[in-house]
Amino acid sequence: MIKIYLAPLQGLTDWIFRESYTQHIGTFDKTFTPFIRVQGHDFYRPSQCNDLLPTHNTLQKPVPQFLGNDFESFKRFEDLCLEHQYTEANINMGCPYPMVTGRRMGAGLLEHPAEVEALLNGIFTETKLKISVKCRLGMRNPIEFEQLIFVLNAFPLEEIIIHPRVGKQQYKGEADVEAFARYAPQLRHPVCYNGDIRSVNDVKLIQTEAPQVDRIMIGRGLLENPFLLAEIRGQELTQKEKISMLRKFHQALISPGTY
Ligand SMILES: Cc1cc2nc3c(=O)[nH]c(=O)nc-3n(C[C@H](O)[C@H](O)[C@H](O)COP(=O)(O)O)c2cc1C
Repeated sequence: MIKIYLAPLQGLTDWIFRESYTQHIGTFDKTFTPFIRVQGHDFYRPSQCNDLLPTHNTLQKPVPQFLGNDFESFKRFEDLCLEHQYTEANINMGCPYPMVTGRRMGAGLLEHPAEVEALLNGIFTETKLKISVKCRLGMRNPIEFEQLIFVLNAFPLEEIIIHPRVGKQQYKGEADVEAFARYAPQLRHPVCYNGDIRSVNDVKLIQTEAPQVDRIMIGRGLLENPFLLAEIRGQELTQKEKISMLRKFHQALISPGTY
């Protein structure tokens, strides 16, 4: 059975969303916190750290996500993860917003493979965590990924989640499933597909194009249709069941802690 992950969506899939969803609709194989930005060796917005507090994540622990570009900042983030008994962290190399990419973070890192390498070198020198990466195919052109494959393959990553757009597209245009299918087998790590999955047919397309892929991540498609997880898993729900689940889910969203 294909593994299904919940995409991190800043301002949307926070702990309140994740707990409410798990309680009333379904359990993902993995969830991720929206990015926690660390810059100049310190938390850019300390309130982002609240999302990974164990008291907020009672049903399923997410994978905490780091947004930054230097090892010292990562160290600060790792200490927070270890303090709360997390065992895995994800590095954001996909955020396309100019305020982030202009500082060579998120997708902005991808056009500087030497900086990706330096960051991963620093992290793997002493990290106690399992490390995964969430990235795009590049910042400006998918061809950038050819160099990144060499860099990524040099590190013992847990997995690589690829959203096959480039940073400058932000969310416009099409996700390049063809390029994804070409590059995924060249990585020595498990690869997860992410981008524009809105239906069971979309999943079938990915499985046809890239048959070796055994994990997908869904974000906006789940917000449009909270039952997409069940549909992909072939679980049948009656209209009555769906209405009841949706009511409880919404109630939990607006009054967290009472579910
Ligand atoms: C509003 C919004 C916030 C996002 N926040 C994050 C984030 O914090 N970390 C991250 O890795 N990706 C973030 N993303 C990207 C998503 O995780 C995902 O890669 C993207 O939406 C494509 O997947 P989808 O088509 O299934 O939504 C965000 C996307 C949106 C639209």
